[in-house]
Amino acid sequence: MRILSGIQPSGKLHIGNYFGMMRPALELAQKGNAFYFIADYHSLTSVSDAAELRANVLDVALDFLACGLDPKQTVFYRQSDVPQVTELAWILACVTPMPMLENAVSYKDKLAAGLKPNVGLFTYPVLQAADILIVQGERVPVGKDQKQHIEITRDIASAFNRQFGEVFVIPEAVIKAEVATLPGTDGRKMSKSYGNTIEIFGDSTKKKVMGIVTDSQPVEAPKKDLDKNIPLQFLKVFAPAKAQEVEAKLAAGGYGYGEAKKELLAALLEYFAPYRQKRAELAQNRDYVEQVLRDGALRANAVVDVTMKKVREAVGLR
Ligand code: ADP
Ligand code: TRP
Repeated sequence: MRILSGIQPSGKLHIGNYFGMMRPALELAQKGNAFYFIADYHSLTSVSDAAELRANVLDVALDFLACGLDPKQTVFYRQSDVPQVTELAWILACVTPMPMLENAVSYKDKLAAGLKPNVGLFTYPVLQAADILIVQGERVPVGKDQKQHIEITRDIASAFNRQFGEVFVIPEAVIKAEVATLPGTDGRKMSKSYGNTIEIFGDSTKKKVMGIVTDSQPVEAPKKDLDKNIPLQFLKVFAPAKAQEVEAKLAAGGYGYGEAKKELLAALLEYFAPYRQKRAELAQNRDYVEQVLRDGALRANAVVDVTMKKVREAVGLR
């Protein structure tokens, strides 16, 4: 089974990215042939500073390797080291109906968030389809907000196959229900664009966790509506025993949200401590990180060349 996913280097990765996408993707990588990449072309839709983009790419590479990506098992590469995806994106654009992109939720969301509507932002899902189809990915582990992009990919692949013959495997999204959309410190979806993130490796974890919004039930009250409580939601994801304990204390009363946040903070710092250590070591060894990405690019290119040969023949480009 071929598995593929990507993440944009458009800012510091956060625990929503980690629990929603990275951890499930790293687990799934054990079960097949995984291709994970850093979507630097995609980030050009929002990052316009070369030094910033380069720094972000290195950060994402360090984050993924520190969190356990095994570069021997998983093909780990930079999207721009496989420039053939841009050729495939063009070919796919020619079988993609305009209204499909006009209706894409993430495009509308990004405009609403204030991003300037460049053409790259509009055709973003076509490049994403090319990423997936070019390695014939069958399973795509992502968070829920990417569901529609995978549906668009399926539609584009089917349209291509109908028109030119069976070239592409139709991929399927793999979305873990319990971590599909994790909340940020303000209760909205945790997202770089909302400034409500808790970074995986930042030094502001304490400040961010203690700043999580909660309702205003007094300390002594037995707490109600605990399914909306953000510290509990996170504890449930990665420290279920601790979550049960904290939930019982909150429900009993005489135990405030501040205490629950302290429990979350301690659990988070403990969970990520080994990764933090590994990241610090990797950061001292950038040549190794670069070598991993180059090696990944070579392995990805071998697969990509096979697909592109089929595609070019199917459409009549040779
Ligand atoms: P952001 O919204 O912070 O810019 P991205 O769009 O770069 O995050 O998302 C990268 C990956 O992480 C995607 O697969 C996405 O679905 C997942 N993801 C992002 N935020 C969350 C979240 N709050 N909960 C679960 N998964 C998330
Ligand atoms: N759009 C994805 C995101 O913002 C990143 C991405 C680019 C991706 N290409 C992909 C994800 C291919 C899965 C498969 O998170």
